[in-house]
Amino acid sequence: MVKTFNVDLSDALSKRMTTRKYGNIEMPEENLLKVLWAGIGKNRENRGRTAPMPLGDVIISLYVASKDGVRLYNGENESLESISEDDIRDKIAHQDFVENAANVIIMTADIDNYPASIDNESRKIWTHATAGAVAQNIYLAAAALKLGTVMLAWIKHNEIEKLLPLKKGEKPLYLMPIGK
Ligand SMILES: Cc1cc2nc3c(=O)[nH]c(=O)nc-3n(C[C@H](O)[C@H](O)[C@H](O)COP(=O)(O)O)c2cc1C
Repeated sequence: MVKTFNVDLSDALSKRMTTRKYGNIEMPEENLLKVLWAGIGKNRENRGRTAPMPLGDVIISLYVASKDGVRLYNGENESLESISEDDIRDKIAHQDFVENAANVIIMTADIDNYPASIDNESRKIWTHATAGAVAQNIYLAAAALKLGTVMLAWIKHNEIEKLLPLKKGEKPLYLMPIGK
């Protein structure tokens, strides 16, 4: 499905910036889904996604932590599947403002999801390059919807691994609070 932002790309690029202050203000689910679709949503038939993926395989997953729990974004059918009912926002980041964002995207990658021929160094580099593309899409969608966000590398990796049912090769990469 084509999502409408009603903002010129040049406006979104002009307004793209980091926000580190949030007031826990709820946002419409539709806007959250737009942001997630911008990140890794399906935009064509077959495997096509809004962000480029190494060899076309979707290696990035987006979880969303909110006061109501944690959900996993399914880019195939643009829905959110419940993972837990716990509010984990105050446990996953070192920076306090994160718990004040209505939604916090937890970006993970499954480094096992590469063909066997791809060496470990390439897996690491390609995974973080992909995360950058996804993050910029999310920044632009947030700017278009007048929402704040920030890409956070300084996060509690071990806590996140304990709190989420991640697959064997799936690692937390970055957090992105979304909100006002
Ligand atoms: C890979 C990466 C990691 C980052 N990690 C953090 C972080 O852990 N904490 C933080 O407050 N900002 C983080 N940032 C945000 C940058 O500090 C921010 O983009 C930079 O100060 C420029 O500001 P701007 O985004 O408003 O242009 C990160 C940005 C990138 C690209």
